[in-house]
Amino acid sequence: MKLVSSREMLLKAQREGYAVPAFNIHNMETLKSVIEVANEMESPVILAATPGTVKYAGELYLLKLAESAAELAKVPVALHLDHHEDLDDIKACIEMGYPSAMIDASKESFEENINRTKEIVKVAHRWDATVEAELGTLAGIEDDLEVDEKNALYTDPQKAKEFVEKTGVDSLAIAIGTAHGLYKSEPKLDFERLEIIRRLVEVPLVLHGASGVPAESVKRAIKLGICKVNIATELKIPFASAIKDHFEHNPNANDPRKYLIPAQEAMKSVVRDKIAMCGSEGKA
Ligand code: 13P
Repeated sequence: MKLVSSREMLLKAQREGYAVPAFNIHNMETLKSVIEVANEMESPVILAATPGTVKYAGELYLLKLAESAAELAKVPVALHLDHHEDLDDIKACIEMGYPSAMIDASKESFEENINRTKEIVKVAHRWDATVEAELGTLAGIEDDLEVDEKNALYTDPQKAKEFVEKTGVDSLAIAIGTAHGLYKSEPKLDFERLEIIRRLVEVPLVLHGASGVPAESVKRAIKLGICKVNIATELKIPFASAIKDHFEHNPNANDPRKYLIPAQEAMKSVVRDKIAMCGSEGKA
C-alpha cells in the first residue's frame, strides 16, 4: 500500500468508536516493530516524527523509510509530522510528500495559533495532506520542548469550536490532563471537558501524552470521542532498557543485528498492548 494521510483513518475511527494509535518512531527498529505488530493485529497505524526525529533521520530518508514500510504493509500506514513549529519546514516536508502534519502553535496567542494553523491548512490541503493543531498546553517534555506544570493549560471548549471553524483544521489535539513523558502521580483526566469539546467540535480529537496513562482512562477517553492516541515515552523506555540489559549480560557484544533484537521485541510487546487499548485491532 501507499502511505496515506491520517484523514480517512481518523474519520473511520470516529465513526466506529475506536482510536488510531500514533507511535513516535526514532529509527528503523522502532518503525519496523510498530509495522510488524500493526500487520499482525490488522490495525491502521500512524508513524509520528517530531522535529528531533526528522533532523536525526533526515527528512527524505525518513519519508523513504516510511514509504517502504507502507508498501510492504497490509494495513494503512500514515506518516505524520508531530509537534512541528516551523512553518517553512512543515511546508517543505508536505511538498516532499509527507501526507500529514501537526502545526504546534499552542504556545502562541489564540489569534497567532489560528493564523499559523490556517497558513499550514492552506498549503496542506492543496497537496491533499492532513493537518492537526493543538489548543491548550500539555505539561512535560517532548523533543526539546519542555512545559512545567504551572504553565499547562486545559483546552477551553468554546475556543476549540471557534478554532476549528476559523482554521479548517482536520483534527485537534486537546489538553485534558495528560502530559508528555512520565507522570509523578496517576494523571486524572478531565472527562467532562472532553465531553463538552466533543459536542462542540466535529473534527477528530487527539490525545497526546498517553504514556503512563492507565489503559482504562484512555479507553474512557476514546469512548468519549478521542480518535488518535499518541505514544512516545513508553516505546523509548523498553528500547533502552532491553539494550542496557543485553550489554549487562553480554558485556562484549558489538553486533547491532543481535543487541537490537531484544529491544525490538520489548517495543513490540508495548505496541501490542497499545493497539488493544485503542480498540483498533482488526480495523485495517
Ligand atoms: P508520551 O511520550 O507521553 O507518550 O507523549 C507522546 C506524544 O504525545 C507525542 O506527541
